[in-house]
Amino acid sequence: MTNQLPFTLEQAQAWREKYPTPFYIYDEAGIKKCVTDLYKAFSWNPGFKEYFAVKAAPTPAILRLLRSLGCGADCSSAPEIEMCRRSGITGHDIMFSSNETREEEYRAAFAAGAMINLDDITQLEIMERACGIPDTVCCRYNPGTFANTNDIMGHQYDSKFGMTRPQLFEALRRLREKGVKHLGIHSMLASCSLDNGYYPALARELFALALELRKDGITLDFIDLSGGLGIPYLPWERAVDIFTIGEGVHRVYHEMLRSNDIELSIFMEMGRYITGPYGYLLTTVIGKKHIYKEYVGVDASASDLMRPAMYGAYHHITVLGKEFAAADTTVDVVGSLCENNDKFAVNRALPAVDYGDILVIQDAGAHGHAMGYNYNGRLRCAELMLGEDGRVRMIRRAETVRDYFATLDVDPEFNPDRPAPAETAPDWDTDA
Ligand code: LLP
Repeated sequence: MTNQLPFTLEQAQAWREKYPTPFYIYDEAGIKKCVTDLYKAFSWNPGFKEYFAVKAAPTPAILRLLRSLGCGADCSSAPEIEMCRRSGITGHDIMFSSNETREEEYRAAFAAGAMINLDDITQLEIMERACGIPDTVCCRYNPGTFANTNDIMGHQYDSKFGMTRPQLFEALRRLREKGVKHLGIHSMLASCSLDNGYYPALARELFALALELRKDGITLDFIDLSGGLGIPYLPWERAVDIFTIGEGVHRVYHEMLRSNDIELSIFMEMGRYITGPYGYLLTTVIGKKHIYKEYVGVDASASDLMRPAMYGAYHHITVLGKEFAAADTTVDVVGSLCENNDKFAVNRALPAVDYGDILVIQDAGAHGHAMGYNYNGRLRCAELMLGEDGRVRMIRRAETVRDYFATLDVDPEFNPDRPAPAETAPDWDTDA
């Protein structure tokens, strides 16, 4: 996105004095407005709730902010459930949407009082064996084909997620027989969709199932439209309009459900749309290399933001302080990993950069820090929150060498209580 940044060069320079780059910074005001608008757009549905996809930004300060705005959480693992619990999100405010689920994860979800979303009919038995039958269960549907399928998600018949239609009906029937009080259905058929028609089309597909299920005597309490809404990563892409989407789903709801005397709650599990545009990765130029191409080296690498390396994803880059300078150089912006795909940008037109310039890698607020890793001994960077009042606070510190060695405590040489020899000791508690 090329929107105006919510901070200036001077602010970023001051932050860098205190928190060395690279770091992520999130814009609280942006996230708040996004969630507030979402709830306005779906205010016609009294039970509407967004269960934020924790995998997109698993950081307690972000989860607490979202909770304060009325969101629940969509968790995919027991550690995510535990993070939610400690962030004050519990019970039915958690939707546990996982696949190939371990018994202990069902037990964790059950203990937290979460709603459980079953990915497959065979999971019913596994869940029952693990924790019994919860009062609220959802089943994930895979229609095999879908009009709006896009390239990122692939075709549904190739997707490992969800149940076929006969399996879905059978699972819901069995769950009802077993005394489940509240039933729901869920489906996620796109990723990064910029189509205002995606959710209304998905709703049509799922509402039709609700009508058929009623003929079988099965009443649904909710329909979970999951995540998948996109953000304009590319400068020429256009953002979706959440009010058009809300109205579109409303129209289908009215036409198919209300007119048939069915009322149910609409749930969503968006991640990218909620935090993606409001997270920025700040990194400093530390190298300029001219060989067969021009390279700009930065102190972040793919281990901080994997999306460009993994998907060839475009993330817009702004050279702070040079926003209005002519973009008259063509460069690859690269990190320091021993991987040639460690490139934040390839053949990107940017203004000429200098050592020490701060680059802002945009739209990094979802599936960004969350997908970080430690290859090449790279330590994961800090996360900051830019408050509505303009103040900045650290919400996750950068990893240290001590963290990197933490799981080696099985080896006496790496016992955390054993001081490292002074002459070789790295700076244990700072981002080395
Ligand atoms: N609910 C479920 C069950 C999901 O599997 C996902 C994402 C979401 C919700 C949230 O989707 P979102 O609204 O954020 O698109 N790492 C990739 C995205 C993988 C998404 C996996 N599931 C990326 O960086 O683009």
